[in-house]
Amino acid sequence: MSATLCPASAILSTVTSMTSSTASALTVHQTARPTGFPTPGHFRFVESPVPEPGPGTALVENLYWSVDPYHREMMDGHFELNSPLEGRTLGRVIESRDAALPEGEIVFHRHGWRTHSVVRPDEARRLPHHEGVPLSAHLGILGGTGLTAYVGLTRIAQLREGEDLFVSAAAGGVGTATGRLARLMGAGRLVGSAGTPAKVAFLKEQVGYDEAFDYHAGNVADLLATAAPDGIDVFVDNVGGEHLAAAIGALRERGRVVRVGTVGQYNTPDAPDTRFNHADIVEKSLRMEGFLVRNYRDVQEELYAFAVPHLLGGRLALDETVVEGFDRIVDAFLSMLRGGNTGKMLVKRS
Ligand SMILES: NC(=O)c1ccc[n+]([C@@H]2O[C@H](COP(=O)([O-])OP(=O)(O)OC[C@H]3O[C@@H](n4cnc5c(N)ncnc54)[C@H](OP(=O)(O)O)[C@@H]3O)[C@@H](O)[C@H]2O)c1
Repeated sequence: MSATLCPASAILSTVTSMTSSTASALTVHQTARPTGFPTPGHFRFVESPVPEPGPGTALVENLYWSVDPYHREMMDGHFELNSPLEGRTLGRVIESRDAALPEGEIVFHRHGWRTHSVVRPDEARRLPHHEGVPLSAHLGILGGTGLTAYVGLTRIAQLREGEDLFVSAAAGGVGTATGRLARLMGAGRLVGSAGTPAKVAFLKEQVGYDEAFDYHAGNVADLLATAAPDGIDVFVDNVGGEHLAAAIGALRERGRVVRVGTVGQYNTPDAPDTRFNHADIVEKSLRMEGFLVRNYRDVQEELYAFAVPHLLGGRLALDETVVEGFDRIVDAFLSMLRGGNTGKMLVKRS
């Protein structure tokens, strides 16, 4: 499933200078710290000459960019103001001064949010050639998104065949990957929550969820009790708050909570967190564990070995929303924070 967003006119006001000249590069800077949801006014596009690679580096023309919820967290302090932003990116080496990065090679790197990047070999990973696998998959199901879902299921939940799962933000990148991988791993009943009725239908009709609900339709605990009347074994949590409290109530004995992220709180960090029943953790012998995918890079080859045959065999589909044009990267990011994506939110060079 692949969708395309409509242009948002607001973003055009942030583009201070933009030409189609191949001799110029564009970079996005953060210009101010947001309170609550960021706006286009917190960003600026900066035009400069295309950088030249020095010895031991290569110039990459970027082709796909990932916009991620963690960028919102970084905007609160980790991203330096008025400096190029970072981000996960795929690009083609167009000029090289290091034999480890040959011209024409497609690489993954983190110097994103810019049209051109200069990278060292230790900053770029050459992508494996899997004939028939679309390039965008390397930022989605085969990239950090899919790896997060795979690690969550295999290393943190240690999912066993037949176990019942609940996934929050189920229609997003990690959520769709979790549902599809769990189904292939032999999970039992799959229940997901998402922000619109259209996403609920998509989860049930296309991703393979048995049941899903719109979390705006009522109290999450009640909605979950209806969707999973016999309880769940595993909760993969992308949201936190009310979802987490509801899932702890629904977990069976020896259930596991996989804490992936807290996207429900990134724009409202001061909001009081929903309380969960601490006694449940003891009385049902529950385990809650968080993780960062960057600490599981050694699982990447295992993910390829599992997912690529399923992709090529048509048993695993790509869920992505692709926004065309680097000048719409801020638009894509802001839209993702408000649920404008189905599957992984990507930006493609036009
Ligand atoms: N631990 C790690 O290493 C790691 C790695 C990657 C991602 N993550 C985390 O995984 C989660 C999902 O990331 P992703 O990249 O796949 O993003 P995503 O789910 O594709 O996009 C974010 C989604 O969050 C949902 N959302 C926004 N505000 C919400 C709220 N208040 N309550 C419930 N849902 C809300 C929106 O969907 P709706 O329309 O359904 O609201 C939106 O589509 C995030 O928490 C992220 O930080 C963690």
